Amino acid sequence: MIRPTIPEDTDALIAIAAETGVFKDYEIEALGEVLYDYFEFERDENGHLAATILVDEVPAGFVYYAPDTMTFGTWEMWWIAVDPRRHGSGIGRRLVEFCEADVLAAGGRMLFIDTSSLPEYEPTRRFYLALGYEQDAVLRDYFNDGDSKVVFRKRLSAGKL
Ligand SMILES: CC(C)(COP(=O)(O)OP(=O)(O)OC[C@H]1O[C@@H](n2cnc3c(N)ncnc32)[C@H](O)[C@@H]1OP(=O)(O)O)[C@@H](O)C(=O)NCCC(=O)NCCS
Repeated sequence: MIRPTIPEDTDALIAIAAETGVFKDYEIEALGEVLYDYFEFERDENGHLAATILVDEVPAGFVYYAPDTMTFGTWEMWWIAVDPRRHGSGIGRRLVEFCEADVLAAGGRMLFIDTSSLPEYEPTRRFYLALGYEQDAVLRDYFNDGDSKVVFRKRLSAGKL
């Protein structure tokens, strides 16, 4: 079952993100701040969205996505993480498909996802390719020397002029 993320999910979602082992400590800290801001104002004032997937009534992953300001229907997926004990069982795909349907319903046109070029993100990059995302750009040494930003995108609907 996938439902909107609630404040009570926060600790479990931070734990899941940490347990994946790919995020740096400061990123895990940032996730706590992102979720705090989400419940405080981002959801209501800026249309950010977050969804949690439950397996046996326990959070097993989440996705966080938001419209990009000063664009027409361009959205960004900020976070996705699945409990590593459940990787490879289709949960990530369900979360992305849920997010895409939500973005479409909100009038979204395109969904962008940023990730890292580091080797530990190779499975993540394969995951996005498997879900029909195309690699759109590489911003060399963006995060740090040797750690480029890799931008994926998927068009969800035609734009209106
Ligand atoms: C990336 C992540 C969300 C994928 O979730 P998941 O539940 O394991 O993925 P799924 O089981 O739904 O896989 C969906 C598709 O991606 C493919 N895929 C997933 N992991 C893959 C891997 N390591 N290598 C190749 N393909 C992979 C699957 O083959 C599957 O394709 P199919 O449906 O055509 O068979 C999960 O691995 C994760 O939490 N990673 C750590 C956090 C992370 O990297 N977040 C993104 C930061 S930018």
